[in-house]
Amino acid sequence: MDVNDPRLARFEVVREGARRDDIEIVHYEPQVAAGSKAERRVVRTVTAFFLVAGLSATAFLVVYIWWPWRYRLVGGIEEYYTPLLGLTLGIALLTLGFGVLVWGKRLLPKEVSIQDRHEGPVPADDRHITGQTMMYMADELGVKRRPLLGVSLLAGLLPVGAVVAAPLVGGLIKDPHDDRELFRTGFAPADDDGAVTRIRLVREDRRPVRPLELLPGAQVTVFPGIPHGVSNQYADSVTLLIRLRAEDALAARENNRRAGKQDWMWGDFIAYSKICTHAGCPASLYEQQTNRLLCPCHQSQFLITDNARPVFGPASRPLPQLPIEVDDEGFFVASSDYRQPIGPDFWERP
Ligand code: FES
Repeated sequence: MDVNDPRLARFEVVREGARRDDIEIVHYEPQVAAGSKAERRVVRTVTAFFLVAGLSATAFLVVYIWWPWRYRLVGGIEEYYTPLLGLTLGIALLTLGFGVLVWGKRLLPKEVSIQDRHEGPVPADDRHITGQTMMYMADELGVKRRPLLGVSLLAGLLPVGAVVAAPLVGGLIKDPHDDRELFRTGFAPADDDGAVTRIRLVREDRRPVRPLELLPGAQVTVFPGIPHGVSNQYADSVTLLIRLRAEDALAARENNRRAGKQDWMWGDFIAYSKICTHAGCPASLYEQQTNRLLCPCHQSQFLITDNARPVFGPASRPLPQLPIEVDDEGFFVASSDYRQPIGPDFWERP
C-alpha cells in the first residue's frame, strides 16, 4: 500500500501504520457521527464542564487573594475563607476531570488493538507512517474539527494552572506583608493616644504572673493579658516564662548581651516563644538539668541559656525571645513585642 496515495481514507492510513508496527486494530467504532446532533450535545457538555472549571479556579484565585482571612472568634465572613478555598478548588478539579472523562468516553472512537512485540530498529518507512498515524490520531481528539472544545479547554486549564501559582500570583498583586501581620503578636504594646501600655504576661486563667510565684528551674506558659489573649486569635503569642537557676541566669544574661539583647531578661527570668521554629509545634519540654527546651514533634532542642539557639534536630532558627520586665504593681510585662517572626521560617524573613 502506498501510504502517500491521497485517495486513501485516513482510517486506512492509520490501520496500515498500526499494522506495520504489528498492531492489529480488531475493532474500531466511532461513538458519534461527525456533525451529528449527538456530537454537538457532547461538545456542549464538555465545554460547560471546562468553563465551570475555569470559573471556579478564577473564584479560587479571587478568594485566595482578596477574601479577608484573619481569625475572628465569632461571626464575620473570615469564617468562610478556608471552606471557600476548598469548595472552589474542588469544583474546578472535579469539573475539569469530568470534562476530560466525558470527552474521552463519548467523543473518542471505541477501539480494540492487539500488538505483538518485535525486536530490532523500526524501518524508516514505518517511522514515517507512524508519524502520520499519530497526527491523524491527534485529529481524532477532534479539537481541529470542534474548535469550541479547544477554546473551552484552554479557558478551563489556564485558571487551574494559575491556581498552582496562586501564592506567587497573589504576592505579585498584593503584598502579603502590608500590615506586618507576621511581625506582630498580642504582646505588641497598646498605643492609647500616645500613652503606651505594656502588655502583661498572664496564665491560662488570665491571672498575671509575679516573680515570686516561680521557683528556680520552674516554667509557666503565659499569654498576652489582652481581650481574647488566651484564645486561638493569638495562637502565635504563646510564651514560656522560665526562672533559671542563678548561675544559669548569669550565663544567659551574658549570652544575651553578646547578641545585643541588653535587659531582655528580668532577674533570673527569661521568656521565649513556645512555637517551634521548625514546624510550629509547642516546644515546651523543659529539661532543667541541661537547660534545653525540647520539641516533641521532631526532637529539636534549644539551649535556653544561649538565646535558645537550636543545638539538635531540624530547627535552624533560635526561638524568638520576648523582652520582659516587671511593672509598678509587681507583675511581669513585655517590654516590647517580639522582635523576630514567630514560628517556622518564611521566605521573606529579613
Ligand atoms: S516542629 Fe519542632 S522539631 Fe519539628
